[in-house]
Amino acid sequence: MILFAGAGNPALARAVAAELGMELGSCRVEQFPDGETSVHLGESVRGKDVYLLQPTCPPVNDNAMQLLIFADAFRRAAAGRIHAVLPYYGYARSDKRTGRREPITASLMALLMREAGIDHVITVDLHTTQIEGFFPGPFDTLTAVPTLCAGLKPELPADTVVVSPDAGRVKLATEYAERLNLPLAVLHKRRESGSETRVTHLVGEVRGRTCLIIDDMISTGGTLVESVTALRDAGASGFLVAATHGLLLDGAIDRLRTAGVTRLCVTDTVPTPADGGGILHVVTVAP
Ligand code: R5P
Repeated sequence: MILFAGAGNPALARAVAAELGMELGSCRVEQFPDGETSVHLGESVRGKDVYLLQPTCPPVNDNAMQLLIFADAFRRAAAGRIHAVLPYYGYARSDKRTGRREPITASLMALLMREAGIDHVITVDLHTTQIEGFFPGPFDTLTAVPTLCAGLKPELPADTVVVSPDAGRVKLATEYAERLNLPLAVLHKRRESGSETRVTHLVGEVRGRTCLIIDDMISTGGTLVESVTALRDAGASGFLVAATHGLLLDGAIDRLRTAGVTRLCVTDTVPTPADGGGILHVVTVAP
């Protein structure tokens, strides 16, 4: 087998290669002045099992296109089987139509991967598992929950309650709660508009307790800030956050710290900011 690194997360690809005791495959990515990309493979892939580690994280479209271009290069160089390792699956939130005349881009991405010659997809904590069905071939979803729980366990106060920020994350929150042997609370939110939601209900006991709010991903931090506000109103006394994919777009860490979050635990499925604002703790999924 050969493992190649795309531009999405070369540090994680190097860490995975080190775990496997192997070198990364030799390749060069060229960017043309008009923005087009070309990939040059520096070694033969003929007949081999070729793995490309390429999360389709921001810049999502660039990383997605690079994934497809790599796959095309592998296919044309007679690779045996092409395995796409997407620790983060971009467009996963576009998994269904919420109204008429909308795309399902998670499905489009799966079909494009297949068309480009990808035989097998590996991902981590997919936003919704039905996305697996969009790809007409083997699809493995790994989970970072055990790794995150191992990182969190030593610092959790005894009064901690695991909180799901919405109904869609209840299954994930249950996995945390069972693994950490903690009680569970659930927030229910209502979508007010395309970009705005409002927490309307809380199920569970949080008064005087530390809340460990979990999510699959943190983008702007807006969902979690809204959750903290609702939990504080309900009498919660402390706020910790755990999520697999720390996209942490501009200002997200500050936004969470200002809201009162004292610990933010994420993995390295996507590159994380160098300045963690004193609250960020990154655990690796490389093993
Ligand atoms: C929503 O369904 C997701 O699971 C996350 O809660 C959401 O996408 C996070 O985005 P943001 O951090 O911008 O609120």
